Amino acid sequence: MSYDKVFLATAFTSRSKKEVDVLEDCLFCIDKEGMIARIAYPGDSDYEKILSGYGQTEHFTRIPSGSYLLPGFVDLHCHASQWAQAGTALDIPLHDWLNTYTFPSESKFSDLAYADMVYTDVVKTLLANGTTTALYFATVHKEASIRLAEICAERGQRGLVGKVVMDLETECPTDYRDADSATALRDTEEFILKVKEVGRTAKQGVYPVVTPRFVPTCTDEVLEGLGALAAKYDTHIQSHCSESDWAHQHVQERFGKNDAEALDGFGLLQDKSVLAHCNFLSDSDAELFAETGSAIAHCPVSNAYFANSVIPINRFSAMNVDIGLGSDISGGFSPSLYDNARQAVMSSRMLEDGVDPRLPAEERGTANSRITIAESFYLATAGGGESLSLPIGRLAEGYAWDVQCLDPSAESARIPLFDADEPLIDVFQKIMYLARPQNIRSVWVQGELVHSLS
Ligand code: GUN
Ligand code: FE
Repeated sequence: MSYDKVFLATAFTSRSKKEVDVLEDCLFCIDKEGMIARIAYPGDSDYEKILSGYGQTEHFTRIPSGSYLLPGFVDLHCHASQWAQAGTALDIPLHDWLNTYTFPSESKFSDLAYADMVYTDVVKTLLANGTTTALYFATVHKEASIRLAEICAERGQRGLVGKVVMDLETECPTDYRDADSATALRDTEEFILKVKEVGRTAKQGVYPVVTPRFVPTCTDEVLEGLGALAAKYDTHIQSHCSESDWAHQHVQERFGKNDAEALDGFGLLQDKSVLAHCNFLSDSDAELFAETGSAIAHCPVSNAYFANSVIPINRFSAMNVDIGLGSDISGGFSPSLYDNARQAVMSSRMLEDGVDPRLPAEERGTANSRITIAESFYLATAGGGESLSLPIGRLAEGYAWDVQCLDPSAESARIPLFDADEPLIDVFQKIMYLARPQNIRSVWVQGELVHSLS
C-alpha cells in the first residue's frame, strides 16, 4: 500500500463519550482520498518500516514535539449570514432579536457581492478556529446560498449548506421571505441539484441541506413539501426545535403538540436531521429523536442568551440521542467551538448546582447534570460526526484526515506548560480551556492543508 501523506505526531481523540485517547508518537498514514488508512503505534511491526520508507520523502510531515493534533471540530449549527451581526443585540429576547435585527440583516444577502464578502470571511474564520466541517444556514436567497456552498468548496471546508425556507406571511417580513410555498419548494429543489453538482468537484464533500427555518415561520404546505424533497434527494435536514419558552409554546399553540412531534409529522425527523437547541424536549420527544436517529445541535453560548433554560444534555445522551456542538452564530457570538465546549461544561455545572443562593444546596440544582471537558470535546468532534452520519471527528482508521495542529507556545497566546513530565491528559485539558486561534498553526480537511499561520 502506498500512502499519499504520513504524519508523525502525538494526538488526542475520543475513545468514548467520556474518555480521551492519547496517541503518542503515532504514524498517521493518509490515502489519496484523504482518509486515514493506517495508524501505526510505536512498537507495531510496520512502524519502523513506514518511518524509514517515508521519513525522508516529501510525503512526510513531522509535527514538532510539544505540538499536538486534535480532530477538526464539527460545528453543527451556524448561521453563516449572521456573522455580519455577531456580538450585537444579545440583550433583547429572541422574538425581538429576530424581527428587529436578524431578518433585516439577512435580507442584505440579496446582494451577491455582499454575500460573497461575508461568506468568504466566515468560512476562513471558522477554519482558523479549527472547524473543519460546518452545518450552515444561509438565507432565503437561492443564489447567495449557492455561493456559500461554492466558497466552502473553494476553501476546502466540508460545508453542509441550507437555503433557508420561511414562507408564513404573518410571521415573516414582506421583504424577507419566500414569495409563497410553491416558490420556496421550487427554489429548494433547484438549490439541492446545484449544490450536489458543486459537491461533486469538492474532495472534502459539500452537501445541500433542507432547511425550514423553524416551524413558526413555515406553512404546513412548505413543511410537508420539504420533508418530501429531503426524502426524494436523500439530503440532510436542519431546523430549530423547542429553543425558548416562546418558540416552544408557539408550536404547542398552533398544533397542540411539541415541536418534535410536529416536525416528525412532516417527515422532518430522520437519521440525517439535526435540530438546533432542543432545550425543552420532553422525554417522549427525546425518544422520538433516538428512534428516528435525529440529532441535537447543542448551542451553549446562544442558549445563555435566548433559551430561558439549560438543556439536560446528560439525560438526552443517556437516552441514546446523538448530540453535537453548535456555535449558533450569531445567537452565540463566538465562531470558536473551543468557546462553546467551555460554555457547555460551565452551563452543565450551573444546572447541576443550581443558581439561586437563597435555596438550600440540596434543592438548588438538578443532580447528575454536569459534563466534563472530555465529554464536551466529544460533542465538538465525534458527536458531531455521528450526528451527520459522516466518517469525521475521530483520529481512527476509516475516518477523514480532518485535523488541527495546536502549538501551545504561540508567542501571543502561551498555554502554561512548565513541567516536561506533565501528563498528556492534563496538556489536553489545558488546550481545551486555553487555546486561542493563535495556537491553531495548521488545519487539514480530507488530507489537504486549508489553513496555516506560517
Ligand atoms: N429561531 C429561528 N431562527 C433563529 C435564528 O436565526 N437564531 C436562533 N437562535 N433561533 C432562531
Ligand atoms: Fe440558530
